[in-house]
Amino acid sequence: MMKIQVLFGTESGNAEVAAEDLAESVRNDSQEVEVQDLSSFSISELQHDSMYVFLCSTYGEGDLPNTALPFYADLSVVRPDLSGMRYAMFGLGDTFYTETYGHGATKLDDKLTELGAQRVGEIGRYDASTWEPVGECAVAWFAGVLEDVSAVR
Ligand SMILES: Cc1cc2nc3c(=O)[nH]c(=O)nc-3n(C[C@H](O)[C@H](O)[C@H](O)COP(=O)(O)O)c2cc1C
Repeated sequence: MMKIQVLFGTESGNAEVAAEDLAESVRNDSQEVEVQDLSSFSISELQHDSMYVFLCSTYGEGDLPNTALPFYADLSVVRPDLSGMRYAMFGLGDTFYTETYGHGATKLDDKLTELGAQRVGEIGRYDASTWEPVGECAVAWFAGVLEDVSAVR
């Protein structure tokens, strides 16, 4: 299987925990998995033959977290052609924020789709109000995404 690149945008660390747990759940001798903070990842590194998993929280009034803002801004300005790139999206938020629940991930998802990338599976959602362990939620969601992907192959 192709390399899985897990990229997270976070402010208080939940997305990082989820990213590490998710990576651990799929990493084995034949599956290469890398985890990186979006703040230390450049859009010039995006490769069409990788599978990306984005985990992104929401801050402010439905905005992306600080560590994801430069990546998002670069996508918006440079507008790279991402056709052929496949990715999955997991959003962290809190239903306390009824109007903007999970909007950070939705914004990033819209931008990637606009640039030609193709999302696999539904956007995963983690609601911090539930107190469910975020890693378990992300791992269960991604297992479902991988099943969907192999079902259409
Ligand atoms: C100041 C502040 C603003 C927030 N704004 C939103 C919001 O607009 N929508 C939302 O769904 N969640 C919002 N959240 C909840 C976070 O997205 C949620 O706690 C998430 O798990 C944080 O993940 P992180 O630790 O990876 O940044 C906000 C949290 C804080 C502290």
